[in-house]
Amino acid sequence: MSLDWLPQEPGPRPPRFERVGRLTGGCLRPGGLELTRELLALGAAHGPQPLGPVLDLGCGQGRSLRVLGHELGIACLGLDQSRTMAEESRVHASVPVLQAEARRVPLGTRSCGGVLCECVLSLAPAANKVANEVVDEIARVLRPGGVLMVSDLYARRHSKEPVTAPDGTHCCLDGALPEEQWRGLVESSGLNVKLWRDCSPALARLAAELIFAHGSLQDFWQALLPPGRACQAELRAKAVRPGYFFMIAKKR
Ligand SMILES: C[S@@+](CC[C@H](N)C(=O)[O-])C[C@H]1O[C@@H](n2cnc3c(N)ncnc32)[C@H](O)[C@@H]1O
Repeated sequence: MSLDWLPQEPGPRPPRFERVGRLTGGCLRPGGLELTRELLALGAAHGPQPLGPVLDLGCGQGRSLRVLGHELGIACLGLDQSRTMAEESRVHASVPVLQAEARRVPLGTRSCGGVLCECVLSLAPAANKVANEVVDEIARVLRPGGVLMVSDLYARRHSKEPVTAPDGTHCCLDGALPEEQWRGLVESSGLNVKLWRDCSPALARLAAELIFAHGSLQDFWQALLPPGRACQAELRAKAVRPGYFFMIAKKR
């Protein structure tokens, strides 16, 4: 099972990141920093006072880290498996960024007041329990009362279609679980879901902007997904009707 559609080593980023980033202010997902600010405000309302330190798990280019550290003055650090992303994050946010795998976070148990996870969990396959391992690791680093703040894709319709591509690759659309499965995933790791909110208009807006900028829905999927996955993605999207959500969950 390959999770390596994102670049692991320094070098030019695939063009699809440039396309998405141009429309979202450097964020590699729907909603841009507006959604990040909203999610962080909800996390702060449910989380410990002060909220930090907050770990941005899968921090990408570090745009949210900049909001956390510079705009909100919250103690924070980032983590990304990609060396390219970790290096870019350090430059953008001027906070510590670890290059590591989300299943093995090199931080102490109960060391964080919050974990921010924007469009990362869907990249970990639920089918073979990788997503469970990532959420277990999040629960380990959160202190009791700490909050997990998630924004990600979800399936608005159940589908019996197989989620994994014939070549074994996994993409965010494969990891778009139905709401009850997302809830079950975090509850089974010792977190209580405090809030679930549909944010699908942000996904629709990004799709519309990409279609407007590049011409077709096929271009939209090509901009978001690894090479060769766009055709299959259209079929899966029709089957699951992807939406976007916020979830706040609190460590027991
Ligand atoms: C879709 S991008 C989102 C980036 C950022 N959170 C944002 O909102 O712009 C997903 C990020 O998660 C990272 N990532 C994916 N799976 C990961 C894993 N298992 N461990 C660490 N980082 C991971 C990728 O390298 C990428 O930077």
